[in-house]
Amino acid sequence: MSTTATLATLSDSNLAADPNWWRQASVYQIYPRSFADSNGDGLGDIKGITAKVPYLKELGIDAVWLSPFYPSALADGGYDVDDYRNVDPKLGTLEDFDEMANALHAAGIKLIADIVPNHSSDRHEWFREALASPKGSAARDRYIFRDGKGPNGEFPPSDWDSVFGGPAWERITEPDGTPGQWYMHIFAKEQPDLNWANREIRDDFLKTLRFWSDRGVDGFRVDVAHALTKDLTEPLLSKLELSAANTGTDGFADGSHPFWDRDDVHEVYAEWREVFNEYNPPRTAVAEAWVHATRRPRYASPAGLGQAFNFDLLQADFDAEEFREIITRNLAEAAATGASSTWVFSNHDVVRHATRYGLPKGSKGSKGKPAKGQDGKSWLLAGGPKEELDVELGERRARAATLLMLAVPGSAYLYQGEELGLQEVAEIPDAERQDPSFFRNKGVEVGRDGCRVPLPWAVEGTSFGFGDGGAHLPQPDWFSRYAVEAQDGTQGSTLELYRTALKLRRELQAAEELEWIETGNPEVLHFSRPGGWRSVTNFGDTAVELPAGTVLVSSAPLVDGKLPANTTAWLR
Ligand code: GLC
Repeated sequence: MSTTATLATLSDSNLAADPNWWRQASVYQIYPRSFADSNGDGLGDIKGITAKVPYLKELGIDAVWLSPFYPSALADGGYDVDDYRNVDPKLGTLEDFDEMANALHAAGIKLIADIVPNHSSDRHEWFREALASPKGSAARDRYIFRDGKGPNGEFPPSDWDSVFGGPAWERITEPDGTPGQWYMHIFAKEQPDLNWANREIRDDFLKTLRFWSDRGVDGFRVDVAHALTKDLTEPLLSKLELSAANTGTDGFADGSHPFWDRDDVHEVYAEWREVFNEYNPPRTAVAEAWVHATRRPRYASPAGLGQAFNFDLLQADFDAEEFREIITRNLAEAAATGASSTWVFSNHDVVRHATRYGLPKGSKGSKGKPAKGQDGKSWLLAGGPKEELDVELGERRARAATLLMLAVPGSAYLYQGEELGLQEVAEIPDAERQDPSFFRNKGVEVGRDGCRVPLPWAVEGTSFGFGDGGAHLPQPDWFSRYAVEAQDGTQGSTLELYRTALKLRRELQAAEELEWIETGNPEVLHFSRPGGWRSVTNFGDTAVELPAGTVLVSSAPLVDGKLPANTTAWLR
């Protein structure tokens, strides 16, 4: 590995200057509208985050990734951006943002901003101009407009579905009031796709990257990084033809899909890399690219974004063999590209892992979809058959899995609330749901609101200390027992486990190497890191003998000196 970084003993100030700070960082994802509400309007905000910087410092994370905080009508939780270079007035001001960035940096925490380049919102000034301008105009060319099919253009240009369900094309009304052209939207209709063949779009995003980098943003998380460039040469293939040729998970393994994971998308990121390298230390980026594993390294290349999410563990069962295969493969892949690996179990798009692991095996809860029960029915639909969910087991396995992940080389991405062992909220009434995937798929998908419910900070009070008012998504009564207040200083709590593990991880972190140690038991994974740090996980149902060594931390108490079922321990 050429760029092996040794972060073992770096202090906070050394970390700030280290160009490799991201390689083995623990990154905490904040979904700003659900983190902390400073003004009691029910919506989390920037000042709320600033007020919680001491909490984040005590947690022991290296960086914060902020999901979109830009002006937005929230058609898709903020991933519908009205203005890329501003803060949503509902969340604060640019001055509030600067104050937050300074507070994070003063606490030794880096700041990663989410950037959403595939689509703007339909309220962006570009889109309004496109609607007001004639067919063929420069304003329309910033998006993907097409004439419809049929004698009067009344049918969409293709039969493609949007990711959130329903057609991927929406018809507009022309300025003269007649039914007009169609525009493409891979996601909600409020998220028109931008035309990345248009130089103006490319330049404007370079400007946006500099805008936030100048304000102290240390890195970017790139939303649907694999969708930007498109080949929409006629005739467009039908969705049947597309899926027949589809060999990857979410796109063509050979780059021939009209909009997923095309080769020329990397030309965009080569330009971005030049901007990142204008800064010292260079700005970093991580691609959200749900692509075939063989094509992921190109996003993670040092000449491109530098790092890419690997969602393999997130999609795996709690299973020793699956974990071992995924870890081995991804470390080899990272070593071959010069990137470091990324690991993640939970984010704002998936069912929380404490819930997934409490469901029968096979209930993967893959992206945007709820975990399903054994019968294939969506467990989370309308509260679901709760008897299938074993809350205690889910929490126990989640703690074990996280402790294992925190010992693996690479960056660990954590999602707000997982440090509390928070479960997915299933019991959100239909009338209070917000996710477009619920509305566009009624009765099939419940959507992603269940992992976006505002955090419980206090055991009592309106919104459990989230703010002085209510919460924009309803919090169930059982949130009380997960509150920060209930766990702070409580021995054995999930919060204290995360604090201990993150602190130890900083001290123990060494070269990006891992060596498997054979255990003779297929249910037990044991590996070592340079410097004598070892992690052992019992995926099985019965307690096992611990290997020799001093126990540094364990995800559940040892029983008679043994490592119980569904437990991880770190040793030295
Ligand atoms: C990404 C985001 C998701 C969003 C989608 C469209 O997958 O993680 O939340 O809905 O992009 O922007």
